[in-house]
Amino acid sequence: MGFKRRNPFTPTFGHEPFAFAGRAELIDDVIEGLSEGPGDPNRATIFIGPRGSGKTVLLSTIAEEASQMGWVSANAVTGAGMLKQLMEQLESNAGHLLAGPIRSSLASLQVGPAGLGWETRHSEGLSWRFRFQQAVEELNDQGVGVLFTVDEVDPTCAELIEFISFYQLFVTEKRDVAMLLAGLPAKVSDLLIADRVSFVRRSFQRRLTSIPDADVREAIRATIEDNGKAAPDEVLDMLVEAARGFPYAMQLLGYGAWRYTGDGESITRESVELAISRTAQEMESTVIRPTLRECTTRELEYLQAMTEDEGPSVTSDIAQRMGIGMTNASNLRRRLIDRGIIKSMRMGLVAFDMPVLEAYLREHPGEW
Ligand SMILES: Nc1ncnc2c1ncn2[C@@H]1O[C@H](COP(=O)(O)OP(=O)(O)O)[C@@H](O)[C@H]1O
Ligand SMILES: [Mg+2]
Repeated sequence: MGFKRRNPFTPTFGHEPFAFAGRAELIDDVIEGLSEGPGDPNRATIFIGPRGSGKTVLLSTIAEEASQMGWVSANAVTGAGMLKQLMEQLESNAGHLLAGPIRSSLASLQVGPAGLGWETRHSEGLSWRFRFQQAVEELNDQGVGVLFTVDEVDPTCAELIEFISFYQLFVTEKRDVAMLLAGLPAKVSDLLIADRVSFVRRSFQRRLTSIPDADVREAIRATIEDNGKAAPDEVLDMLVEAARGFPYAMQLLGYGAWRYTGDGESITRESVELAISRTAQEMESTVIRPTLRECTTRELEYLQAMTEDEGPSVTSDIAQRMGIGMTNASNLRRRLIDRGIIKSMRMGLVAFDMPVLEAYLREHPGEW
């Protein structure tokens, strides 16, 4: 068998993996929420995680499952034009079910403060709120639920705030709808304190934490073996350990191991070693440095002080090492938690919340 097989790993942001690892609970909770009916809290969920933790892929996986259940989904990325994008998605995914804003009855038209002129019959003249309301109503009347997913949330995006405010109205009206948001920890925590979206504070916030090793292992094994190469145990052990439960690292590692093995029928130890060192460089530039760049010098010093402990750190020790008061220290602690870098444990204890970043900081003392 001399032919070259395509590399089955997908180290590209937003790219659905060959084998999806873990996340079953996050998916099941939302899917159950969809079948439970309006009012289920899982129907408004925010997924929170750093770059490469698998947010985009999680949103598309759930949207796919939802459409298999008969739901229509509309998916967009936060930004100017997102409402148009959502509406176009609704129309393309549910075109056969929607009469369309122009053709449908105008009897229920009750939008906007001013008198409704003839021109409002044209869809462009109708407010977004009305257009979404009409589409949702039409679909719900046919027993079809509507799932909205919005990726890369950004609290400074006016359209996102507008969307959330009329989504809230659908909920009040007990419409058969759901809304999944996803974003970086710092963006989500800013969104949660924004005015006008108090509604999102009541939504479920789910963190994309590390995927358990057993799930990582199984997904890597299946990706390799189902595509025609062998994955010796020793090689799997090395890959799982290096991935530290992080989806993007998992794909980078698998990709490298496959590639450096060349035409060989079995993934080699040498190829994995090479993949591990290449992955470290790639992770540094795409995940670790961007995360650290968002931190202030004081925050970095806090992290540095934490690396002096082998495991979790006592917050008062950190304050002492930094020579600052407890109030300052707890402000820094709060901000690092918001950024998804550390987590608070039992009273007075903090630990890292991003294993890939923790490993980097410990392995490169003083370099950052
Ligand atoms: N559950 C998963 N199992 C395996 N690979 C995953 C999983 N989730 C994401 N990936 C992979 O990880 C990378 C990052 O995923 P992505 O959804 O783009 O992350 P994010 O949106 O959080 O930055 C992609 O290469 C994707 O193929
Ligand atoms: Mg993404």
